[in-house]
Amino acid sequence: MYRDEIDTPALVVDVGVLRRNIEDMASFARGLGKRLRPHVKTHKVPEIAKMQLSAGAGGICVQKLGEAEVMAAEGIDDIFISNEVVGAQKMARLVRLAEKIELSVAVDDPQNVQELGRVCREAGVELGVYVDVDSGMHRTGVEPDKAGLLAEAVVGTEGLKLVGVMSYEGHAGGPLEPEERRRLIDESIRLTIEAVKDIRRRGIEPGIVSMGSSATVRRSATCEEVTELQPGMYVFNDWYLVEREAAKPETCALKVLTTVMSKTSNERCAIDAGSKAFHLDMGRYPVCVGVEGVEIYKFSEEHGWVRLKGDAGSRVKLGERLSFIPYHVCPCVNQFDIIYGVEGDRVAYVWQVKARGKMT
Ligand SMILES: Cc1ncc(COP(=O)(O)O)c(C=O)c1O
Repeated sequence: MYRDEIDTPALVVDVGVLRRNIEDMASFARGLGKRLRPHVKTHKVPEIAKMQLSAGAGGICVQKLGEAEVMAAEGIDDIFISNEVVGAQKMARLVRLAEKIELSVAVDDPQNVQELGRVCREAGVELGVYVDVDSGMHRTGVEPDKAGLLAEAVVGTEGLKLVGVMSYEGHAGGPLEPEERRRLIDESIRLTIEAVKDIRRRGIEPGIVSMGSSATVRRSATCEEVTELQPGMYVFNDWYLVEREAAKPETCALKVLTTVMSKTSNERCAIDAGSKAFHLDMGRYPVCVGVEGVEIYKFSEEHGWVRLKGDAGSRVKLGERLSFIPYHVCPCVNQFDIIYGVEGDRVAYVWQVKARGKMT
């Protein structure tokens, strides 16, 4: 099959760029002597996770138990759910999975530790645990000065094994000013190290120290205490990362291929991909590549509303295929069943996005 034969809207990945992105991050981690545990919430494709593992990654991160189940069924046997798992229904699934693979979860609550311990003991399994530390994002995670107490609870709970400490500094990649990003990353590192010290003060060896998002990992990884990196978006990259100098347009491996489905004036047209395809996240629109003057300014579910500027007004034709780099790639990928991997003009791979849509 050729690229020209792909029906739209479709996710199209340049396999060469994907492989380079995977290798670049793997060699970055290797060079610093860190373990790379990539977050596969970005692509949700077992084959791509295996490419990351072949390039040297030590296990993977997922965000959902359902994603872990899919990856495990495809033979991936070392998975960290970098998220809290709460509730009886999920815990029953969790222990079934822990019987089969090396599995860890994040915790930020002593009651959750107790419940996890109880179900693991009853099932006769041992579950790995990372103490989740809030390093400034204020989403999940304990304050650094509570990390020691929580680690002690984990160590004292039969059925659980303390694997390490994790903090996710996603917020630190947000600001557009590099100075502000650096300040927030350094503050996240400081708070993570405070948590590590708090654990050591209780005579406990914290084990792995895991951090890193694609926008921040190049700086957070330089901290000696950090031993594991968990970036996700770097495999594909997106416009969010381009704006933050963590990627370049040419290192964006994934594009959404669309077709101009209506052109009733030279000022505007409509493409066949709207919010259903792109998932408008962070309030920002995808960016057209290859044709100047093409700007999405609005979505309805099945339409992208496009403004045509300058030459584009006369150059863009009905039926023309336009490619866009998503602003935030992860939720966009989650909208599609398949990804086409292209090498030159040819479709070399058709990957099922097997872990898409996993809510639980
Ligand atoms: C806990 C955690 N770790 C790692 C990642 C990967 O970060 P990014 O996709 O920004 O590279 C995420 C992304 O949401 C996350 O929530």
